[in-house]
Amino acid sequence: MTTVHRPSWLTPPPSDGPRHTLHIVSGKGGTGKTTIAGSLACALATDGRRVLLCEVEGRDAISQLFNTDSLRNRGERRLIKTPDGGTVYGLAMDPENALMEYLETFYHLGLAGKALDRFGVVDFATSIAPGLQDVLLTGKVYEVARRLIKGLPNAYDAVVLDAPPTGRIAKFLNVHDAVADLAKVGPIRGQADSINAVLHSEHTVVHLVTLLEDMPITETVEAIDDLTPTKIELGAVIANMITPTSLDQDQLALAAEHRLPIAVPGLSDVANKALADEFAVDAQRMLAEHQRRLRLQQLDRPLVQVDLDPFGIEVESLFGIAATLQDQLADEVRA
Ligand SMILES: Nc1ncnc2c1ncn2[C@@H]1O[C@H](COP(=O)(O)OP(=O)(O)O)[C@@H](O)[C@H]1O
Ligand SMILES: [Mg+2]
Repeated sequence: MTTVHRPSWLTPPPSDGPRHTLHIVSGKGGTGKTTIAGSLACALATDGRRVLLCEVEGRDAISQLFNTDSLRNRGERRLIKTPDGGTVYGLAMDPENALMEYLETFYHLGLAGKALDRFGVVDFATSIAPGLQDVLLTGKVYEVARRLIKGLPNAYDAVVLDAPPTGRIAKFLNVHDAVADLAKVGPIRGQADSINAVLHSEHTVVHLVTLLEDMPITETVEAIDDLTPTKIELGAVIANMITPTSLDQDQLALAAEHRLPIAVPGLSDVANKALADEFAVDAQRMLAEHQRRLRLQQLDRPLVQVDLDPFGIEVESLFGIAATLQDQLADEVRA
């Protein structure tokens, strides 16, 4: 097990800010990782706070979510002012760009580096130094987080990372393992030590987004198993896209068995019967969701529930989800 040396500059998060300053959001692809990360950034951005939302997969997902110009190669840019009086900024880190920059700086590859195609760069770097890409990406996140910790100018009050999916998250955060083959001493090792210290400090927390479906729940359980030995703090499990219903379990069970009387005035018996059949199918699905929610409750982590928005996600919906997060994660967000 890695012993984490705590450097003297690593002070605890300020008591008047969010409980954690670095929020890492993972989840199976398609569960709403990017949507929840964006909403969490909005939830944290209250009262003049500045929050940075970062992505690392080179997909330009943040600009799509906030309906703004591409963030590619643009550095940190202001995305939006929140109704609670804070500001969310965005940063899109590109894995290939991070490698190119690194190769140019340390290997003076210049034109030769540029001549490698996208896959060539990745292949080249992966063969000289497996894990280098993850080190570089976590390194960028760390550089931003460090401004706050060290009280440097341009600091953010919190950083939210739209992180790699659950299958890769433990490896991504395990900077030390990645760097062990790479460097025993020197600047890369020094940076990895510092990143590791921040990841293991009270600044950092990992949240996992899931759906109330079997596969994403299994991946959530596996991610918790993978992350527990790393000793990086686990935060909430966020169950997204839940079908809202005002019916209780008993009523759902009746509906699922076609025993809930449905009689819409003005509809024929046949139409009412068709409606009841359709509703029975929905009720069965909602009952199954309930069973899976019980499975998540057994994980013994704070469980946040975010409803499915039937109209899809617009920028305004992020503020709605942010309000839900402020409500259900009040301790985390300290609005
Ligand atoms: N609570 C929600 N209600 C409705 N649609 C949602 C919700 N959360 C996410 N979505 C939609 O689901 C799709 C996947 O979400 P996204 O955040 O891109 O997932 P991921 O980053 O995990 O791949 C997107 O079309 C998004 O708009
Ligand atoms: Mg995404």
